[in-house]
Amino acid sequence: MSTAQPYVDENGVDTQDERRITLECDGVRHVLDKVNRELVGLAPVKARIGQIAALLMVDRARRELGLTTEPPTLHMSFTGNPGTGKTTMALRMAEILHELSYVRSSHVISVTRDDLVGQYIGHTAPKTKEVIKRAMGGVLFIDEAYYLYRPENERDYGQEAIEILLQAMESDRDDLVVIVAGYKDRMERFFQSNPGLHSRIAHHLEFPNYSADELLTVGDLLLEEQGYHFTEAGRKAFADYLERRMQQPHFSNARSVRNALDRFRLRQAMRLVEQGGSLSAEELTAIDAQEVLASTVFSKESESLPHLPSR
Ligand SMILES: Nc1ncnc2c1ncn2[C@@H]1O[C@H](COP(=O)(O)OP(=O)(O)O)[C@@H](O)[C@H]1O
Ligand SMILES: [Mg+2]
Repeated sequence: MSTAQPYVDENGVDTQDERRITLECDGVRHVLDKVNRELVGLAPVKARIGQIAALLMVDRARRELGLTTEPPTLHMSFTGNPGTGKTTMALRMAEILHELSYVRSSHVISVTRDDLVGQYIGHTAPKTKEVIKRAMGGVLFIDEAYYLYRPENERDYGQEAIEILLQAMESDRDDLVVIVAGYKDRMERFFQSNPGLHSRIAHHLEFPNYSADELLTVGDLLLEEQGYHFTEAGRKAFADYLERRMQQPHFSNARSVRNALDRFRLRQAMRLVEQGGSLSAEELTAIDAQEVLASTVFSKESESLPHLPSR
């Protein structure tokens, strides 16, 4: 132990350094408020986003005081079922990263396997590099990233794309943030076969399915954004609708809600056109039970059963 430098601890940090710095949070707080307002539920995801934002604010302050030099790894994985808000949250994450100057712009380039992998030999590298070039300075969002890896096909070009991505994730990590997204189980298998990718991802966020109550609130929120609202009976019918729809195949959380609302608005419009005459603002903005109850989820259960062979 050195007695010559009494104020420097074992990590070389000057414990008597009296410089002070204020964390600048306004911009980030604004985005976090927007996330809280616009997105129903997702408490664990919102908590993680808040933590990551705090970590980055502190990292920035540490760098300004010369306490850290390495840029942090910011690549992330968003897993969850369709319609749980992964893409929406990636857009907000890009805004946060931009607010904190971790990326030059808040743009998000969203791609899937087909944008990265070519059909023929020699096509993949230029394709992947072109996408990386477009995403540089912002966020590259790779939806259903596990499709890049096809172990069953020996000559698959996906592996080539993965290697180029890994390279960029390492060497350009101060200028490019990669977010991979998709189903949780498939993503885990993908990471097992690609440990290099797994080790480059700093934050793993899981998006839970929404409860029926949350979906109902999503419905209210999306309708409000479009300048519509449910009548009391309409909202009650929509709660019944959700209960049924959630049990059906291809149910995809908030996306199914958005699609249902589109159909309700079409039916409401048809009803008003057929009704004719003068219309009030209330009539023009209200989604009533009949719009909801006309949905096929309410048709008799026997109709949705497979046809039995007749004897
Ligand atoms: N928590 C939420 N609150 C309100 N709307 C949501 C929420 N999550 C998703 N949505 C809406 O549902 C749709 C699908 O969301 P998206 O982010 O594309 O899901 P994913 O990428 O997980 O499939 C979008 O229209 C989005 O606005
Ligand atoms: Mg998506």
